[in-house]
Amino acid sequence: MPANDRALHPVNLPEHWSPGSWRQRRALQLPTYPDADELGRVQDELRALPPLVTSWEIQALKQQLAEAQEGKRFLLQGGDCAENFSDCTSEVVSNRLKVLLQMSLVLVHGLRLPVVRVGRFAGQYAKPRSADTETRGDITLPSYRGDMVNGPEFTASARIPDPRRMVKAHARSAMTMNFVRSLIDGGFADLHHPEYWDLGWVTHSPLADDYHRMVANIGDAVRFMETLSGSEVHNLNRVDFYTSHEALLLPYEEAQTRQVPRQWGWFNLSTHFPWIGMRTAALDGAHAEYFRGIRNPVAVKIGPSVEPDDLLRLVDLLNPDDEPGRLSLICRMGAAHVADRLPRLLEAVKRDGRRVLWICDPMHGNTEATSNGYKTRRFDNIRSEIEQSYDLHAAAGTRLGGVHLELTGEDVTECTGGARDLGEIDLERAYRSSVDPRLNYEQSLEIAMAIVRKQAQL
Ligand code: PEP
Ligand code: CO
Repeated sequence: MPANDRALHPVNLPEHWSPGSWRQRRALQLPTYPDADELGRVQDELRALPPLVTSWEIQALKQQLAEAQEGKRFLLQGGDCAENFSDCTSEVVSNRLKVLLQMSLVLVHGLRLPVVRVGRFAGQYAKPRSADTETRGDITLPSYRGDMVNGPEFTASARIPDPRRMVKAHARSAMTMNFVRSLIDGGFADLHHPEYWDLGWVTHSPLADDYHRMVANIGDAVRFMETLSGSEVHNLNRVDFYTSHEALLLPYEEAQTRQVPRQWGWFNLSTHFPWIGMRTAALDGAHAEYFRGIRNPVAVKIGPSVEPDDLLRLVDLLNPDDEPGRLSLICRMGAAHVADRLPRLLEAVKRDGRRVLWICDPMHGNTEATSNGYKTRRFDNIRSEIEQSYDLHAAAGTRLGGVHLELTGEDVTECTGGARDLGEIDLERAYRSSVDPRLNYEQSLEIAMAIVRKQAQL
């Protein structure tokens, strides 16, 4: 255990914990694998494979999140609701990276703060479901739980949970990470060339002028600095990018939980920043037990039914030493409930003097069904939940430190509204999500612009 690490912020080793101690608790939302021996073999195989991320990257992200807690950075976390194995393509991965880079550029420029960029990718392959089974006609089958667990096709063979899918998810995650890292190292995120990030829409979007004006301003500023200093401004050709996913499938997460040389404790090396979903966040549940023992920065989704006392107990369990950067709370109340449900939580955590990063997920409390049978979200509700959150934080004397969004770089029509005012009828054109509706690239950028506008008014 390096002395300086512990000295910086003394953290105690979690007691009575091991990567498998979650097995003593009630585990919700986990599949039942028909062949336990095969599950064990897959876990052994995963334990032997190289990790997807490193402990020093994890520690660097924790430091950035600590700075976000102090208001020195803003977190942008976004990506698909669920990744699919078939979407692990050059185009889907690079377009998603482009839209996140464009959004972060808008945020850096408008908020005058460095942005912590975290993708919901390279592991977002397991999904919680409201029912264990799905019935069509007189046939009932296990629910689809994400490509890491079973297949979406409504057949008995596709729906049987197959542990080998975990190995495939690990490989797909590694390919995604590898491509993202190569793009970024190769200069894709170079501020001298923000045109590399342009998606096709820029020329015909109602937002194009705003975006291009901002890019031109940034280009001028970079050239000005370079003229002034007589040399190239370095570090503008590289950005940090981190990964996150809902660490739902505990046998997978357990197999990726490791000790590393010159660090104390255990790290989940399948992602930098795992989170606990709303449905599995019980204080005495298996997921909270697993999460309390790992050293990654962690997040929890907080829904409208959470009471202040429960939240404080959860904060205590997950961050007993009040370690900076360790804990983020992702609130997903819904535009109609946030004003009623959020303030009591903000006040309780503030009164207790606890250090957390408050993040707004304006997606999951705003899902509704249309008359033509689509699951959608209205752009105005998404924007409204973010704007209300800003006001509620201002009133409570706390700080909104980031947003958590479901988005894609593809030109889908899954959420209604936005600059092009998509209607319910437009959803038929390009609805591709297998789970929740995502903001398309244009709606995503518009959200980034709305955040900047809102902050400027405060
Ligand atoms: C999700 O993030 O896709 C999700 C299922 O969210 P929540 O746990 O907040 O419902
Ligand atoms: Co979702």
